[in-house]
Amino acid sequence: MSAPTAPPRSGLAGRLLAAIALVMAAGAVTAWAVASLVGPAVFHEHMLRAGLSDHDEAVLHAEEAFRSASSLALGFALAAAAAASLAVSLVLTRRIGRSLAVLSSAASSLGGGRYDSRVPPPQMGREFDDLADAFNSMAARLQEGERLRGRLLADVAHEIRTPVATLTAYLEAIEDGVQDLGAETVALLRDQASRLTRLSDDLTAVTRAESGDLALDREHVAPGDLVAAAVAASRERAAERGVDLREDSSASLPEVLVDRLRLAQVLDNLVTNALRHTPPGGTVTVGAASAGRDVTLTVRDTGEGIAAEDLPHVFERFYRADTARDRAHGGSGIGLAICLALVHAHGGTLSAASPGPGAGSTFTVTLPTG
Ligand SMILES: Nc1ncnc2c1ncn2[C@@H]1O[C@H](COP(=O)(O)OP(=O)(O)OP(=O)(O)O)[C@@H](O)[C@H]1O
Ligand SMILES: [Mg+2]
Repeated sequence: MSAPTAPPRSGLAGRLLAAIALVMAAGAVTAWAVASLVGPAVFHEHMLRAGLSDHDEAVLHAEEAFRSASSLALGFALAAAAAASLAVSLVLTRRIGRSLAVLSSAASSLGGGRYDSRVPPPQMGREFDDLADAFNSMAARLQEGERLRGRLLADVAHEIRTPVATLTAYLEAIEDGVQDLGAETVALLRDQASRLTRLSDDLTAVTRAESGDLALDREHVAPGDLVAAAVAASRERAAERGVDLREDSSASLPEVLVDRLRLAQVLDNLVTNALRHTPPGGTVTVGAASAGRDVTLTVRDTGEGIAAEDLPHVFERFYRADTARDRAHGGSGIGLAICLALVHAHGGTLSAASPGPGAGSTFTVTLPTG
């Protein structure tokens, strides 16, 4: 049994020609009807009004001349209109067809995974240019998404590799009797396992926050309270490190409508980073101030600072400026990506500034008050 074949589809040229043929036929029939039914009668009427007799030889001649002149004029006009329509439809079909062919081949190659496919502006009017623009921006978004997906997978694989390799090596050594399962080994295994757990928690958090799938439990909060809570939560850790942790809030700031716990998470991440990157004897200041209609929360430190080339990247997932040292502390480089997503979910912005290495850093959260 043969598969049912789809009926042949007519192309753009065929359809355009059929439409023009229809218009021409309607025009021709109307013109012929008017010329043969109305024209001679009107002409005859005028002859009679001019005082000529019905059966006059001259009248019959004149009427015959009128009829053949009108049919000749009509025939030429129709032929010229048909030729012009054919030419116009061929030119238009060719130009539209060419633009559509470019677009459809770009769409096919995009569908085949070539995300750098783009189309040039067809210059066939606004609608076609809009279509090309929409296609190009869709392709650009897909390309960016694909790039991020690839990098995320590579980063996750990289982060998992070390703890998994360590766990495997230790387990093999224990099985072979080379290593005994003492308290120290258990602690090390536990440490690697908790690193994996934290990585998975962080990935869940950042994916949730970035996808907007995050329920915010908003309430009116005084910015000073957020600062005081963040400082209280980190006071002990700062003391252990020998870092002076200060609070610096302007009085009488307008309240902000935020999820208190999420904002605490943001400030805690920023203060943890600041403490980690500030040597003993340094200062970390958490502050709140007003900036026009907004309120800013800042975490400023006098620590290592951030090099200009790293600044634009610190909010990217898995980005760590000084890879060796940052990795030694066990962080996965996701903290700031989570902060950024949480602040964006509140309709705010988060920025980083640093005069350079050794000169400290300032992270600023800006929240709308209205
Ligand atoms: N206050 C700071 N001073 C200097 N560098 C900083 C500071 N805060 C962040 N950075 C740099 O930005 C990088 C990214 O920070 P982020 O908080 O995202 O990751 P992390 O702290 O390394 O790991 P995680 O937060 O996942 O435990 C850090 O590794 C560090 O290089
Ligand atoms: Mg961090």
